[in-house]
Amino acid sequence: MPARSATIELPEHAVDARRALLQWFDAHRRDMPWRDHPDPYAVWVSEVMLQQTRVDTVRDYFRRWMVAFPTVEALAAAPLDDVLHAWQGLGYYSRAKNLHRAAKQVVANGAFPSTAEGLRALPGIGPYTAGAIASIAFGEAAPLVDGNVMRVFTRWFGFDDDIARGATQRQLWALAGQWVNGPRPGDFNQALMEWGATVCTPRAPRCEACPVAATCVSRLEGAIARRPVKAKKRAPRTEHRFAFLLTREDGALLVVRRPETGLLAGLWEPPLSPVWDAADWRGAWSASGLESSHEPHATLEVVRHVFSHIRLDVTPLVARYAASASPMLRALPYAEHAWVDARGWQALATSTLADKVRAVHHGGQQQLLPSS
Ligand code: ADE
Repeated sequence: MPARSATIELPEHAVDARRALLQWFDAHRRDMPWRDHPDPYAVWVSEVMLQQTRVDTVRDYFRRWMVAFPTVEALAAAPLDDVLHAWQGLGYYSRAKNLHRAAKQVVANGAFPSTAEGLRALPGIGPYTAGAIASIAFGEAAPLVDGNVMRVFTRWFGFDDDIARGATQRQLWALAGQWVNGPRPGDFNQALMEWGATVCTPRAPRCEACPVAATCVSRLEGAIARRPVKAKKRAPRTEHRFAFLLTREDGALLVVRRPETGLLAGLWEPPLSPVWDAADWRGAWSASGLESSHEPHATLEVVRHVFSHIRLDVTPLVARYAASASPMLRALPYAEHAWVDARGWQALATSTLADKVRAVHHGGQQQLLPSS
């Protein structure tokens, strides 16, 4: 059969399927703490957290967040460091910074925008988040498409187009825009996502539990396993860096703050070298502007951390400094530094990568380096 092209109108039975999905959602919706808070601020926070993170992880982060910043006003008034600290471990920190910036805008404007279009004007709110807040908190028939929705749509409607392509995305959004029209648009959007997350799962979908299996095109065609069709992503490239664990006699560790833009912006970490050959720690040390009089004495096991597009292998190097020392980091792009003990570290907003490096510093096996 030729690949079905993405010019699909809603079939007539989509109205019945919509009703069946809502009924199923009412009976099977998972308990989520934000579902008890249908106010726009809580919906916004939960939807931003859920963008890259699993529901089980988000539950605890959401509860803690709502205690720390119970309202949009509280978030707007909080220092950025506190906001990043509350986000610590969730990754993709630009989400937290955008929440903070957008909270300030909402407070300055005097009200939360109540339409998807108005919400789109806030930093960090794209079409998905705008659709989620507008439909769940304000009852607007605004569509949303996330990974779950893409999967259930390509299967139920029978799409063979590559979902990585813009044209396919536009078709999926157009379908979602038609289907969301009807009663309870917010619950319908959540039913779509819940259907994908709990029944029409990527592997081993539970078709026997699916409320709309009888009208699923892919089930009739025996084609569920091949949808959604997605072009392969390129593998992340590997980079190697060194992390400098510069410790003072009193046990304090040097930490530095990353620049305000770019990867892990504004977070604290032990200084990292530029991308450098793993076999050449001396070269990385001097390229970072560190003094040859304070060469590291030991190395630790490599820490691996995967970002969406980079696999980073980091070799920690340990060096001792006198209590009065101030290492030169002139070649590195850090604006601030501080010496911290264990409690000082806990108070900082650090990245997951930095936490992993610190964990091997505390629990790992040191290997001595030859001195020059
Ligand atoms: N995934 C992201 N947001 C969701 C929601 N509101 N309901 C179910 N799954 C989701």
